[in-house]
Amino acid sequence: MTDKFNFDNCPDRRNTDAVKWDRYKDNDILPMWVADMDFAVAPVITDALRQRLEHPLYGYTHVSTRLNQIIIERMLQLYQWSIRPEWLVWVPGVVASVNIACRAMGDSKSNVYSPEIVYPHITEAPQLNNRRLVQVPMRLQNRRWVMDLDWIARQPDADNEMLILCNPHNPGGSVYTRNELSQLAEIAEARDLTIISDEVHSELILEPGLMHTPVASLNDAIGARCITLMAPSKTFNLAGLGCSFAVIADPRLRRRFAHASMGIISHVNLIGYTAARAAYEHASDWHNTLLNYLRANRDYLVSEINQIRGLKLDPIEATYLAWIDVSGLGLDDPHQFFQSAGLGFSPGKDFGDNQFMRLNFGCNRATLHEAVSRIKTAVNNHWGD
Ligand SMILES: Cc1ncc(COP(=O)(O)O)c(C=O)c1O
Repeated sequence: MTDKFNFDNCPDRRNTDAVKWDRYKDNDILPMWVADMDFAVAPVITDALRQRLEHPLYGYTHVSTRLNQIIIERMLQLYQWSIRPEWLVWVPGVVASVNIACRAMGDSKSNVYSPEIVYPHITEAPQLNNRRLVQVPMRLQNRRWVMDLDWIARQPDADNEMLILCNPHNPGGSVYTRNELSQLAEIAEARDLTIISDEVHSELILEPGLMHTPVASLNDAIGARCITLMAPSKTFNLAGLGCSFAVIADPRLRRRFAHASMGIISHVNLIGYTAARAAYEHASDWHNTLLNYLRANRDYLVSEINQIRGLKLDPIEATYLAWIDVSGLGLDDPHQFFQSAGLGFSPGKDFGDNQFMRLNFGCNRATLHEAVSRIKTAVNNHWGD
C-alpha cells in the first residue's frame, strides 16, 4: 500500500450519526452490516466539497455538462459503451430508480422477475409498486452465484414483463459474464422484457482478469430494453450524499421513467454532484489502492472462513460483501448467534436465505482480524471445543 492513502487508519465514525455504527453504539458489537465502508474518502473529494461550500449559496443546481461528459467518457473507456448525454437521468438514489422503473412499466398484472437471493430493496420494489414479484431461483455454478436463466425461459409468456438484474450480485459477489448476459439478452428479446439493471457495484471488481459488462452495452437492441443504474456511492464511499444516475437509451422508456418520477423524486443535490465529479475525475489512484486493500481483505477472509467448521464462503468476484453459508452450524437464528458473539452482520434472511450471513469487509484489517477471531471463538464454543 502507498503511504498516500492509509486504509488501515479509519476515521472514528462515532458521533457522526452513521447508520452503520449507531445501531451498536452502546454495545461491543462490530458493525459489519449496511453497505458503506469505514475508509475516509479520497482527499480530492473532500477538497472539492470544501471549495464548493466556500461559495455561500446553495440554491437549485443542475448537473453540469462536464459531469455528463465525464460519465460518457467513463462508459466508453471502461466498457466500450457509447452513450449520449440525453440518456443520462440523475436520481438521488439507486433504490429510488429501481422503484421508479417498476412503476413506470406495465400494470398490476405485470411480472417482475428478480433473483430469489438479492439485496432486499430489489425484492421489495415490485411489491411496493403493485407489480407481481416472480423470484428466479439462484444456484451455485462453479462456485459462483448465478440466476437460473433457463428457468425464466420456461415460464409462461405474459405482457409487460420486467427483470431486475443485480450485477455484480449483492450479496453473492458474482460478476456476470458476457455469455451469461447474452443468454439473458436473448431471453429478454424473446419475451419482450424490460431490464432494470442495478450495477451500483460495477467498479468494485476484485478478481483480477474479470471485467464488468453493462448488459445494455451488448448491442443497441438490448440497450433499448434497459434501464441501467449506476452511482459513485459504493465505489467512492459516498452513500450519504444521494447521487446516482440511470442510463436509458430508449426515448419512450425515458419518458415513462420521467413521468413515474414526476412530483415525487427530488433533484440530486449540489454536494452529490460536486463529489461525483471529483471522484470520477480525480480519484482513480485512491480507487486502485482501495481495490488492492479490499482484495487482501477478501483473500484473508475467504481463507479463514473456510477453515472454520460449519462455515463456507465461496470466492467473491466483486463487492466488499461476503455471503457466508453458516448452515453447517445448524442454528435456528444465526443472526442472533453472531450478534451475541459481538458481530453485527446483515441477516441472511433479509436477502432470501436464513442460513447465510452477509459480512461487510469494507473495514480496516484490524477490524477484520477481530471479527475472524470472534467468529472462531463463537463457533468453537458452539461445538464445545
Ligand atoms: C445492489 C444495490 N443497489 C442499491 C443500493 C443502494 O443504493 P442507493 O443508496 O443509491 O439507493 C445498494 C446498497 O447497498 C445495493 O447493494
